[in-house]
Amino acid sequence: MQTAHRFDHIGESVIREMTRLAIKHGAINLSQGFPDFDPPPEVVKAAVDAIQGGLNQYTITWGYPPLREKLAEIYADRLGWQVEADEHIVVTCGVTEALAAAMLAVLNPGDEIIIFDPAHETFRPGAKLADARPVSVVLQSPEFRIKREALEAAITPRTRAMILNTPHNPSGRVFDADEIATVIDVVTRHDLVLITDEIYDRILYDGREHVSPGGLEPLRERTITIGGFGKTYAVTGWRLGYAIAPSALARAVKPAHDFLTICAATPLQAAAVAALNLPESFYEQQRADYHQRRALMTEILRDLGFHFHIPEGAYYILADYRDLPIPEAAWPADRFARWMTTEVGVAVVPGPNFYANPADGEGLIRFAYPKKLETLRAAADRMARLKG
Ligand SMILES: Cc1ncc(COP(=O)(O)O)c(C=O)c1O
Repeated sequence: MQTAHRFDHIGESVIREMTRLAIKHGAINLSQGFPDFDPPPEVVKAAVDAIQGGLNQYTITWGYPPLREKLAEIYADRLGWQVEADEHIVVTCGVTEALAAAMLAVLNPGDEIIIFDPAHETFRPGAKLADARPVSVVLQSPEFRIKREALEAAITPRTRAMILNTPHNPSGRVFDADEIATVIDVVTRHDLVLITDEIYDRILYDGREHVSPGGLEPLRERTITIGGFGKTYAVTGWRLGYAIAPSALARAVKPAHDFLTICAATPLQAAAVAALNLPESFYEQQRADYHQRRALMTEILRDLGFHFHIPEGAYYILADYRDLPIPEAAWPADRFARWMTTEVGVAVVPGPNFYANPADGEGLIRFAYPKKLETLRAAADRMARLKG
């Protein structure tokens, strides 16, 4: 049977594959980035109430109106322009759909889009859906900094857009003001659209505050700001995200979303309003909890001999295992990650999975730590054998 060439070189998601492998081998799953703790009870109750209260049919394609109203209020403040619920916001089935819709909205076949590697595995296939060409700019391990020369070197007359994910998965970087200034300069001089992925905007460490690039003056007219609910409220299975953009860009995102999915799940959108109404104390507690998880995870990995950048945001560590005192540490990352999952009993993701050129991620594996402390301690017990 003849099928389209679009996905010829795109196999199954390695992250989802590692989750399946984890289930099969009874491994503790530190591969896929989802919490093993429950969402806030108020949010769960709001979802149940919405279903029992009759919110079970399609909602308006752009999103359940009270949710868009709430997002408009939050983002008018954050982005510093008059975000209108009806004009500028599209609620999507996860950040994944928001990214795909954004790329379909701005890219023509053959256009190029800049993607910083390591990158979340949804970015490149998203570009391919739009028949565009993803162009990688590698952030060198272990600092993972955006460097002007590397970025400039990737720009061609076909470059149309750039994706910026901050806080960043898998490196844990939160790009600083100098790096953002470089992005602003390149995006504006080359007349690009910036698509941001800010799914970890509430998970930052050491007093850092998230800054939405789309709120910075030179980027306001050319940025599609994307956020999501899955990570912040521990509801990754609810598949809820959104894109917020000035009129000209929002107009193009809307039909992409409409004909991809019609709308995101109505009762869950109603529950998302309850999530956005949680008091500030929820976020303070969450920050404190993530500091504890980061402290434990970094201690475990350092003790075992891994080298890594300490996360500034998000909940991943991309760790270099090549100095571990075990013969297996000489293996390529793909083999090492599978061995970790099937033999050690801790599922991780091979680093090459996050790079267009897999060799750039050799010697690295990714740990996800949005887990109960007891889960991380149990993983530490299993990994004790890595001490040699
Ligand atoms: C950077 C980044 N973008 C997007 C996603 C996918 O988000 P969603 O589950 O809302 O589609 C993830 C999930 O891990 C992520 O880490």
